[in-house]
Amino acid sequence: MAASAISSLKDFLDTLDQIAARGLAAFAAADTTERLEAARVEFLGRTSGAFTHLSQTLGTLAKDERREAGQRFNDVRTRLEDAYSHATITRPRGAAEDHAFDASMPARRTWRGSLHPVSIVVDEICEIFRELGFTVALGPEAEHEWYNFGALNFPADHPAMDMHDTLYLGKGRLLRTHTSPVQVRTMQTYTPPIRVLAPGNAYRRDFFDQTHAPVFAQLEGLAIDEGISFADLKAILNLFAQRFFGPDTPTRFGPSYFPFTEPSAQMEVEVDLGVGPRWMEIMGCGLVHPAVLEAAGLDSERYSGWAFGMGPGRIAMSRYKIPDIRLLYDSHLRFLEQFG
Ligand code: PHE
Repeated sequence: MAASAISSLKDFLDTLDQIAARGLAAFAAADTTERLEAARVEFLGRTSGAFTHLSQTLGTLAKDERREAGQRFNDVRTRLEDAYSHATITRPRGAAEDHAFDASMPARRTWRGSLHPVSIVVDEICEIFRELGFTVALGPEAEHEWYNFGALNFPADHPAMDMHDTLYLGKGRLLRTHTSPVQVRTMQTYTPPIRVLAPGNAYRRDFFDQTHAPVFAQLEGLAIDEGISFADLKAILNLFAQRFFGPDTPTRFGPSYFPFTEPSAQMEVEVDLGVGPRWMEIMGCGLVHPAVLEAAGLDSERYSGWAFGMGPGRIAMSRYKIPDIRLLYDSHLRFLEQFG
């Protein structure tokens, strides 16, 4: 029946069945890729396929018939599409069977891993400091309270500890709230001069929201020697800022407080992330408190030094314009692939 002659639901459904039967037969009979493709165009082709033609007659049906006609139409077309995608080319008799090679199979997508944005930033910072003579030191994330607080000159119940609430593991252990305990472990292990960088995770009791994460990356720096002063701290940290953020990056140091440094400072850099220059705090720093040197077994009359702690996560977020800290922890490939 020609599509133009359709005037009732019965005509429509009859034609639909005929098309389906012819289409199924054509897909089953196709013995070359070309024939299968010709059958696809004839029945499922978008502009002049049999289904497309038939669908154009839907409007000629009475209103109350259209719904049923449309549903049946969709069912049948889906069945034909399935038949097409499952259609296999049957080989002429005698043709060599070659199961190992299927030329019609889609190519497998090559897959390259990439570094996490925080790892990229940490690696870059470590590289800059490596040229300045710093090696990398690591410490445990499940840390002893003494290394996390006591040795770092936190008086018991000092309010500074309020900002450092964490998971307590029992027996005097906790998830470290900063990487500063590695300062103490390093000073206990090596004799000065010491120059180390300690990257790693730290934990705090924080909400997991756009700007906070209960686990986050930190990067600690420590330099100990005879006669080290605040001028050394400023010189090295300014040099670092010029290398990392660009040669003319302005920097400034403002007063701050940490129990384990005296004096303490926060360092800011002026960066333009597309909305005009802005001051951005990148780290806390200061001269290592004599009580910390002594706790670690060093003579504070002889040695002095400086330390800093920064958050590579925050630096990565501003550099790559990452709007939500949770993206750093979700492991979504669509996000991570952008850093390949
Ligand atoms: N540990 C401090 C913090 O987590 C940062 C810091 C490290 C400050 C070293 C000074 C020296 O906030």
